[in-house]
Amino acid sequence: MRESSVIYPGAVIGVMGSGQLGRMLAIAARRLGYRVHTYSSESDTPTGQVADLEVVGAYEDELAVRAFARGLDVLTFEFENIPVASIDWASQECAVRPSGNALHICQQRVREKTFLRDAGLPIAGFRSVSDEFELRSAVAELGVPSVLKTAAFGYDGKGQAKITADSDLASVWQSFKQLSVLEAWVPFERELSVIVARGMDGSMQVFPLCENVHANHILDVTLVPARVPEQVMRDARCIAETVAEAIDFVGVLTVELFLLPDGRLVVNELAPRTHNSGHFSFDACETSQFEQQLRAVCGLPLGSTRLLRPVAMANLLGDVWACGEPNWASALSLPEVKLHLYGKSEPRAGRKMGHLVAFGDTVEEAAKLVREARSRLDSRVDSRVDSRLVGARTLENPLSSERSG
Ligand SMILES: Nc1ncnc2c1ncn2[C@@H]1O[C@H](COP(=O)(O)OP(=O)(O)O)[C@@H](O)[C@H]1O
Ligand SMILES: [Mg+2]
Repeated sequence: MRESSVIYPGAVIGVMGSGQLGRMLAIAARRLGYRVHTYSSESDTPTGQVADLEVVGAYEDELAVRAFARGLDVLTFEFENIPVASIDWASQECAVRPSGNALHICQQRVREKTFLRDAGLPIAGFRSVSDEFELRSAVAELGVPSVLKTAAFGYDGKGQAKITADSDLASVWQSFKQLSVLEAWVPFERELSVIVARGMDGSMQVFPLCENVHANHILDVTLVPARVPEQVMRDARCIAETVAEAIDFVGVLTVELFLLPDGRLVVNELAPRTHNSGHFSFDACETSQFEQQLRAVCGLPLGSTRLLRPVAMANLLGDVWACGEPNWASALSLPEVKLHLYGKSEPRAGRKMGHLVAFGDTVEEAAKLVREARSRLDSRVDSRVDSRLVGARTLENPLSSERSG
């Protein structure tokens, strides 16, 4: 690593995007004595609230993007759907990490899947689809069930349709009408994710494997370490390192995985950034995914990702506010529970507002506790239940996709 490439504390980190991932990066950055500027189209944002400077502008506004970048030592991202042109403008003004190329690959499913296939990684069969005729032949080749996904701008299951023998392909296509990908159905046993940080010198640190339970296509609960054999953990680590090296990635990258019943892994998708499933690391790893992103893009050595204790994370969506202010005191009366809120003022249904983290001697215990904490948010009386009662209750299967709370 060239000495001149290290960006030392006191420097200004820029974040494109202003959501909760940027907020937690900003918190990590401030802890290390960096200054943080954020750029997005909104104001009073989760990131802006903890940044030194919140700039409101369009990603397409070349003059504004350049002016923002000129005030930075390094620019990074908290979401991937930044136009690559904006990244190019910024790259002419300051260091940008990860590179625009990494973003370009991960922004669009056809490019992402082609990259994964060419890197020799296991993925589900797929076909690029740009009209109804191609959809029909792709379904004929890949069979049903299968999943049609828009090539760009999908998240939390949005822009997806399951294709079955009963699907009316003409009307499915009418609701897509844009470059898409048809994917073979993966009969997975579990969903996992692996997060890797890669520094400017090519060094890597992989986070402990996450086991993810979704509800309504949105991440609901993450258990760490994942309850899978050691070999699966090794395979996941190897996949993450292969991806990061193949893109020559600098920063934090997430690989979403499907675990098949026979123990094989299939790569679902990539995120060229920190990930919701990695939030546990803020409280439960020697170095969090956010601090690791900061260290990587600043050219500092990466920290240890060792897990301090088994942990579970539960997302808090806007739905939690349906009956009024959640009972925070009741959840926090469980001493091994931590609350994170993102500073969003409008709790809309399905909107990620915060998360809870709980520790346990085993990951099952942590999962029970975090679900118990979340269900307590619904109690309208501050009952101050003794935390020792938690273990005595019958709680739901942590693998269930039913949301408690
Ligand atoms: N090929 C597939 N087979 C079975 N389930 C799938 C497949 N692709 C996606 N899913 C399910 O849909 C969820 C969302 O899909 P994903 O491709 O990760 O999109 P998003 O960008 O919305 O996260 C996955 O987490 C998984 O539960
Ligand atoms: Mg996904």
